[in-house]
Amino acid sequence: MSAPVLTAVAWPYANGPRHIGHVSGIGVPSDVFSRYQRMAGNRVLMVSGTDEHGTPILVQADKEGLTPQQTADKYHRVISEDLRDLGVTYDMYTRTTTRNHYHVVQEFFLSMYRNGYILPRTTTGAVSPSTGRTLPDRYVEGTCPLCGYDGARGDQCDNCGNQLDAADLIRPVSRINGETPKFVETEHLFLDLPAFGHTLGDWLATKTDWRPNVLNFTRNLVDDMRPRPISRDLDWGVPIPLDGWRDQPLKRFYVWFDAVIGYFSSSVEWARRSGDEDAWKQWWQDPAAQIVHFMGKDNITFHAQIWPALLLGQNGAGDKGGEPGAYGALNLPTEIASSEFLTMSGSKFSSSRGTVIYLRDFVRDFGPDALRYFIAAAGPETQDVDFTWEEFVRRTNFELANEWGNLVNRAVSMAAKNVGAVPEPRDMQQADEELKAQARAAFDVVGGHLSRSRFRAGAAEAMRVVGAANKYISDQEPWKRKDDPERRDTILHTALQVVQDANTLLTPFLPHSSQKVHELLGGTGVWAAQPELREVTDLDDPTREYPILTGDYGREAARWESTPIEVGRPLAKPTPLFAKLDPELGETGPEWAPIQR
Ligand code: MF3
Ligand code: ZN
Repeated sequence: MSAPVLTAVAWPYANGPRHIGHVSGIGVPSDVFSRYQRMAGNRVLMVSGTDEHGTPILVQADKEGLTPQQTADKYHRVISEDLRDLGVTYDMYTRTTTRNHYHVVQEFFLSMYRNGYILPRTTTGAVSPSTGRTLPDRYVEGTCPLCGYDGARGDQCDNCGNQLDAADLIRPVSRINGETPKFVETEHLFLDLPAFGHTLGDWLATKTDWRPNVLNFTRNLVDDMRPRPISRDLDWGVPIPLDGWRDQPLKRFYVWFDAVIGYFSSSVEWARRSGDEDAWKQWWQDPAAQIVHFMGKDNITFHAQIWPALLLGQNGAGDKGGEPGAYGALNLPTEIASSEFLTMSGSKFSSSRGTVIYLRDFVRDFGPDALRYFIAAAGPETQDVDFTWEEFVRRTNFELANEWGNLVNRAVSMAAKNVGAVPEPRDMQQADEELKAQARAAFDVVGGHLSRSRFRAGAAEAMRVVGAANKYISDQEPWKRKDDPERRDTILHTALQVVQDANTLLTPFLPHSSQKVHELLGGTGVWAAQPELREVTDLDDPTREYPILTGDYGREAARWESTPIEVGRPLAKPTPLFAKLDPELGETGPEWAPIQR
């Protein structure tokens, strides 16, 4: 049965190329999940885009001497290319500076506003005493009043994940020139979070199957339901569609307010470009749809508390009631698959702190699949994981090259040499049947893990089949069966069948090399589809063009099932699937990211 599954992936800020920390918690898990769901026959819509507003972009623009729009244009393209090269199969990877996004955000806001969930309030904002410039969010840093972390920012502490007000920071300083900001009165719009105390609390109480790291966080959220400002004193953001606000040059929505609505606006953009502008309803209005969010742990508050509150407000379903807005009643998240951090020597990957391994360098030198496998098999799924080159070399050499690559190579080359094609099996023995049964049974086991975002367990189970097949070949010694070609052919046929099954099981993790194995086994056509960068014109402004990531995934052949391998398909001598890495890499790191001792 085909179920609608929306894979909603956190939107990266347009402030730099992707590093492997970004994709370890978000890009790879979300794509393994989506590929599995498509193979299992579900109707997947995978959406995200570049997060282009707010101080993260302004700070970067200042640094590079660019305008905010130039910065966003530059990094939207860079990030899109990074994600394409990793093989992340978005249906719609767009950006937050499209007219469509602005329009959807404003409509969404007006529905919440009409339902009474938005409060105007006077509050304090940081201002530079020397220049008079406003200093929202990332322009102010200081010590977190909650956990004592030194690098907390005006809107959030990355260490404990709590949302902050610049005025709460201990020893706040301006990031522009180090001076102590002064705090002045300013008008803002607030999300009336206390007006969701019951409805949000009741909804969260039903989410007992979320990952423990997410549940720990959400338990405290219901106790912290203060009104939250959703506007900023900035000129870079989505304008506020209310009289008295609309024309003010220094009043815009807070970047997080517009960004989370991106999950919805990007679905609308996808539908509009698909030729059926209501097509988004399959995922957003059908109660049977699943909406699964992928993000890092510093984003949990926004996805488990703020975004559901915005949806309830739009739907007119918070404690104050109301009417569904322009888009009808929209579905709330089903699952918050938040991952922990990939660290390096114990500290979070961060471009600003110099701990950085760029995705582009990594993929160029080691290919996308080795990284995908490493992250899925050993990534920060439920706890922080320290990245080491040694472990990367070990996994690549022993698991991908020795175990998987070698299995493919042995099975295909022996069959190619002796038969030149997939041989016909004769009398099956118990060992043959057992191995085939183990491979068939793995589909439910691995699929069960992947549908619940348990990627490490899924990868380990798939590799267990590979290990069993290697052992089978070693035990059966087909190379010693010269005088019994029927037995030899049966063994080789069994081995090839299990290679094909293992390749299917590994496809969500290794989509590029699985295509290659498909071809080594004599298959033709697209086995695992890849995303493409497409240049499009803004749907509502013919003067603007931008790239999106999208793809035609319906034409891929991969299905989540064991299919019998076709006897007689011609086989040629294979080329190696994975190159072994020089163990020295584990000690030195590559030139572009040398290990510092
Ligand atoms: N840009 C944010 C970050 O990098 C994530 C935004 S997720 C979204 O932390 F849902 F708001 F888009
Ligand atoms: Zn903190």
